[in-house]
Amino acid sequence: MSRQRLNIELKAHDPHPEETLRAALALDGVTDRGVLRQRDTYFAVPDGRLKVREEDGRPALLIPYARADVAGARESSYRLIDVPDPQALIAALASTVGVRVVVAKQRRLLLWQDVRIHLDTVEGLGAFVELESVVGEAGLAAAWEQIGPLRDALDIADDHLVTRGYADLLLAAGDDTQALVGRAVEAMERAYVPYSRFPVGAALRDERGTIHAAANVENAAYPQGQCAEASAIGVMVAAGGARITEIAVAGNAALITPCGGCRQRLREFASPDVKVHLCGPEGVRRTVTFGNLLPMSFGPEDLT
Ligand code: THU
Repeated sequence: MSRQRLNIELKAHDPHPEETLRAALALDGVTDRGVLRQRDTYFAVPDGRLKVREEDGRPALLIPYARADVAGARESSYRLIDVPDPQALIAALASTVGVRVVVAKQRRLLLWQDVRIHLDTVEGLGAFVELESVVGEAGLAAAWEQIGPLRDALDIADDHLVTRGYADLLLAAGDDTQALVGRAVEAMERAYVPYSRFPVGAALRDERGTIHAAANVENAAYPQGQCAEASAIGVMVAAGGARITEIAVAGNAALITPCGGCRQRLREFASPDVKVHLCGPEGVRRTVTFGNLLPMSFGPEDLT
């Protein structure tokens, strides 16, 4: 029987992953274990959490655990159970309890004292830093004591702390995308398009999570018409938004995509990894990244 284990952990968004890596590598006595690719399949269990972890070059594990959703460092109790045939176990659980979500990530693992430093890039969520201190012989208090100074050294700000796990964050992001898409479709239905009869709606999420939506607005002097994306950028800026973090565009084409001019307008506020959902009235038809739409682009940084 695998034994019950306890660890202390802290998770935060990482807006500057390269700097965090540099700071972590500079820690006294740190060891760099390189990059791991991990895939966690979470199952729809009624209590606690249950996942199968598959990792390149390592045996798979079944991990049942319980953890409180609180900001800052928190305790988590878990077991690690070897799984000789992960595909069979995943299929068995998927067909009975069901899969909640799959989290795929690349993890740069560093070890410092008894703390595991995880520099994670999570598919669909972005970059995070996680500090995990395994509670050993020295006890709980000793484990807590290691987290504080490390947090300072890696400059983990309070407002970047994350209370939820990756699985919950991904599920919430899915709900958020539904909301964004809904706003784009709603705006599309209000477009002013007496000349083209081609309504378009655009919705932009800003860095605070606020959604700004607008439609195309045409004009009897045809060239004066404005695309939905340009209208939505104006709405965002007027509301105090500074960066675009997610985009939805809705139209009745087989696959609506922002015109060339609007790609450049969006470029001012969006980075290449921003998701762009290309939607019909019924919802998302395809999701691409902004970098897919406008590769090798020219932007504000090129003027400096
Ligand atoms: N249009 C947009 O609003 N966004 C796009 O990305 C593509 C085109 C509008 C402009 C015009 O009002 C109508 O669609 C037909 O070109």
